[in-house]
Amino acid sequence: MPRLAGPNLERAKETIGLYPQARSALVPLCHLAQEQDGWLTPEAIEHIAELLGLTPVEVLGTASFYDMLHTEPVGRNLVGICTNIACLLAGAYELMEHAEESLGVSAGGTTSDGQFTLEELECAAYCDKAPCVLVNYRFFGPVDNAGFDQIVDDVRAGRLAEDIPPHGTLSRVRREGGLQVPADEIATQRAAADTAKRRRAEEKKKLEESRSADAAATAPQPGGQPGPASGGAE
Ligand code: FES
Repeated sequence: MPRLAGPNLERAKETIGLYPQARSALVPLCHLAQEQDGWLTPEAIEHIAELLGLTPVEVLGTASFYDMLHTEPVGRNLVGICTNIACLLAGAYELMEHAEESLGVSAGGTTSDGQFTLEELECAAYCDKAPCVLVNYRFFGPVDNAGFDQIVDDVRAGRLAEDIPPHGTLSRVRREGGLQVPADEIATQRAAADTAKRRRAEEKKKLEESRSADAAATAPQPGGQPGPASGGAE
């Protein structure tokens, strides 16, 4: 299974370079790996962890939190049907039943040709077009059974290729301008972040030492008497 490679690896390094702390690039790198492979492979998770100085478990813990990041293989297209309240009242469950029959998979399943993964969604904020369908996070609504079949046919035939990029594509336009942070500015911010981190660690250590000293001072002595209070008379 692939790790980040070629231009994607270069892009990952560029992305890391934008942040004072490398771990801040975690979610962008997960999207990059998903764009490359369609999902986050274990090898990609390990590679991202290496690049960011994290453990694979930390990467997985973040990736598994987000609905848009997939840690299991999915189809080339994600077809989601919202079944939350507005869509439910407008027939989303009936539409889901139709979709399952039409695609031949249950919600969560992938068609045998690997073209479609069917998902049940929470509110997609398209309630005024209920029931709504998302294909690779592009919105359609209101959608009836015939409309659903039409969307699937159009996607399969490539007729919606202009409007719906393959799953995992966040943007088809590579930004050339925009955020440009000089390297010395990044270095300054990284140094400040490290200093702040060290200071927090020292303060924490002092606090723990002070608590330990207080606890020792008030701990019962062998004779049943509490220990001398800090600074108290002997
Ligand atoms: S309830 Fe379906 S989009 Fe809001």
